[in-house]
Amino acid sequence: MNICINDKIFGIISDVVSAESTEAYVIGGWVRDCLLNREHSEKDIDIVVIGNGIELARKTAKKINPDIRVSVFRNFGTAMFRWANYEIEFVGARKESYRPASRKPVVENGSLEDDQKRRDFTINALAISLNKDTYGELLDPFGGRDDLRRKIIRTPLDPGVTFSDDPLRMIRAVRFATQLGFSIEKKTFEALAENAGRIRIVSPERIITEINKIIMCSKPSGGFRMLEKSGLLAIIFPELDNMKGVERKDGRAHKDNFLHSLEVLDNIALETDNIWLRWAALLHDIAKPLTKKYSRETGWSFHGHEFRGSKMIPDIFRKLKLPLNEHMRYVQKLVDLHLRPIVLSQEEITDSAIRRLLFEAGDDIDDLMLLCEADITSKNEKRKIRHLENFAIVREKLREIEEKDAIRNFQPPVKGEEIINTFGIRPGKKVGVIKNAIRDAILDGIIPNEHRAARDLMIKKGRELGLTPVDTNDPGT
Ligand code: CTP
Repeated sequence: MNICINDKIFGIISDVVSAESTEAYVIGGWVRDCLLNREHSEKDIDIVVIGNGIELARKTAKKINPDIRVSVFRNFGTAMFRWANYEIEFVGARKESYRPASRKPVVENGSLEDDQKRRDFTINALAISLNKDTYGELLDPFGGRDDLRRKIIRTPLDPGVTFSDDPLRMIRAVRFATQLGFSIEKKTFEALAENAGRIRIVSPERIITEINKIIMCSKPSGGFRMLEKSGLLAIIFPELDNMKGVERKDGRAHKDNFLHSLEVLDNIALETDNIWLRWAALLHDIAKPLTKKYSRETGWSFHGHEFRGSKMIPDIFRKLKLPLNEHMRYVQKLVDLHLRPIVLSQEEITDSAIRRLLFEAGDDIDDLMLLCEADITSKNEKRKIRHLENFAIVREKLREIEEKDAIRNFQPPVKGEEIINTFGIRPGKKVGVIKNAIRDAILDGIIPNEHRAARDLMIKKGRELGLTPVDTNDPGT
């Protein structure tokens, strides 16, 4: 018995297949991951039917439970339903060909092998029979099983044909190679470079799904290197591609910012599965090419790259179809602040600098520290250790100050409303001036983060601005 079809669902499908005198096979990711002994987190099962996939989906669902809702995508000839933990998709075996300027295939009914041929990679074209007479038999006309053993990504047909049928497959090749730790077979890789331009006809939404999967790999750098080498990166993410290379003047070189960013991404991937923290690692130096300067006296500099970088994020997110929401703002914030702990660690650390950092980073302070630690890519072990020790001091200081002053979720102890009521004024500029004065005094340690001290300062500041208190009741006490 083939262990890949041990689950009860395959027996049920097989019974329906037999009753309907049709043929069906489990194919694609389920078979690949099972043969690799790899946990298939989503439990997606793809069934290819020699005949009508939609009918078989309906009949199978009905046999399990007549209440199961089957979603039919008539245009694609597919149908799917969810049951237990599974998401099971049925498709009629197809023979497809594509017109050059379009992703819309011309589809005809086909044999199992026709269907396997039109799939992206040999390792994704493996099928297992669910038919009674051949139940459990592996059908592998393109050597997918060998490629699994040899850890190779290869297309079943000539790669030029497979990629021009659906150019997203070029990025999928890179994604699978990165996820599985495989290499892309030479001819297949050459076809990536030859067909890179065709990626332009693929929607950014589909591309970003694959890029995010690369980012979530345990060592994402390999994927970005392949994208760069094939020329795909320059098309889909020019800002990142633009970071590569080293310039030399007077015998002085700066580091390759592309490779450095990938190293930081790999480092952070060891620490977190937070995809946005991983994005922040990839993008933290994105403005270095824009801010690069050379001076005889001081060498290479990238002044303000953190600020310019944070300003570039919304545009990058918009183009890549990443969400324009709090995740984007989080990435912006981390890019903007990524030098602050380093600067702090190199100076005499004042409490007020620590308070300001806590205030600006808020709850993201721990993520910021992880990013800064990942940013240490020096090959000089002594220097690396020194940096890490300094960061440990910064962390300790952050903890001490937070415990004492609770700045992380700073809520002004005197609110705008209290200022308005105390002086009998309308909302406006003066309210803002007083609020900022209170905040700065707290962050600079001039007054404690408490209501009474803040209120006293409010009265003093108000008087300086020509205001007289009309309401001397102290609402906060
Ligand atoms: N497929 C393809 N070309 C694509 C997308 C998918 O040939 N552009 C085929 C492959 O046979 C693939 C199957 O459809 O195995 C299912 O696709 P998908 O669910 O995207 O990938 P999985 O292989 O299941 O892998 P993962 O779950 O990791 O995405």
